[in-house]
Amino acid sequence: MNEHVPVMLDEVLASLAPREAGRYLDGTFGGGGYARAILERADCTLWAIDRDPAAIERGASLIARYPGRLHLLHGQFGDMVTLLEQAGVTALDGIVLDLGVSSFQLDDPKRGFSFRHDGPLDMRMGRHGTSAADLVNMLPERDLADVLFELGEERASRRIAKAIVAARLEAPIETTGRLAAIIRSVLPPDRSGNHPATRSFQALRIKVNDELRQIELALQQAIGLLAPGGRLVVVAFHSLEDRIVKRFMTQAAGRTGSPSRHDPAGLITRDAPKFRLLTARAVRPDASETERNPRSRSARLRALERLAKGRDT
Ligand SMILES: C[S@@+](CC[C@H](N)C(=O)[O-])C[C@H]1O[C@@H](n2cnc3c(N)ncnc32)[C@H](O)[C@@H]1O
Repeated sequence: MNEHVPVMLDEVLASLAPREAGRYLDGTFGGGGYARAILERADCTLWAIDRDPAAIERGASLIARYPGRLHLLHGQFGDMVTLLEQAGVTALDGIVLDLGVSSFQLDDPKRGFSFRHDGPLDMRMGRHGTSAADLVNMLPERDLADVLFELGEERASRRIAKAIVAARLEAPIETTGRLAAIIRSVLPPDRSGNHPATRSFQALRIKVNDELRQIELALQQAIGLLAPGGRLVVVAFHSLEDRIVKRFMTQAAGRTGSPSRHDPAGLITRDAPKFRLLTARAVRPDASETERNPRSRSARLRALERLAKGRDT
């Protein structure tokens, strides 16, 4: 199986700017690419979360390489405050989130994330709860169409949902290959050359893992954890993710009118913002990276800094 090639690693390090004795969180440990680079960049301490038990198991060997400096936490980044509290951590100098799935997950047919390999239609990063097969076999046609439209921005959502419902009457849809074939039967490849199942698979993955809600929870909690001068860096891979990140960061930096409904701690204010945007607009990978690593093509990095004391009043 391929390694996971970290996306926009130089840009992540430049935005996070890890420093000696700093305390950092990598909310998406994955293959440990960012984690290793942060630990190498400065003599700091890093807590790293992943909801996938396989990622945590893979990371165990890294702990010995950085004695006392790397702490792996199994769970969801949407629960970061609780997970960190249990580890005795209440404030951080930086947090990074690299959203979506890793190559380890995507390239393993048994995980069921990809239409490129046939395998069980699973898609659960955390390996428990409702699977993609449960959704396609049980959701009413209308709800299925809504998921494909809202989370995959799939304009042919109704046609695809209809075909899925007809197919599941014959036999339950249990594999990625069968689902991809059903979608291909009603939707020809588009001009960009993308597989017609791309958007539907994205939609199901987001739904199965409740990804957008996880991002909202993580952003709210992250800004409460940042110490003065602390930084939040997020790499998003599609417009639904990036829209949430952009709106949240812009509001936190006081750039928009209305206070956020996601601000129980009252940290986001228009009059005296406690945060500043480090990225006026999203940073994109350069051409050499997209050539080397096609998975980086859609990446967008945004970063925010909590203002140091004395600047926030
Ligand atoms: C793109 S990969 C991260 C790769 C990592 N930056 C690296 O360089 O190796 C995303 C990882 O985040 C994990 N993940 C996604 N959503 C999560 C969530 N809500 N909570 C915890 N982990 C999550 C996935 O299981 C996956 O391992």
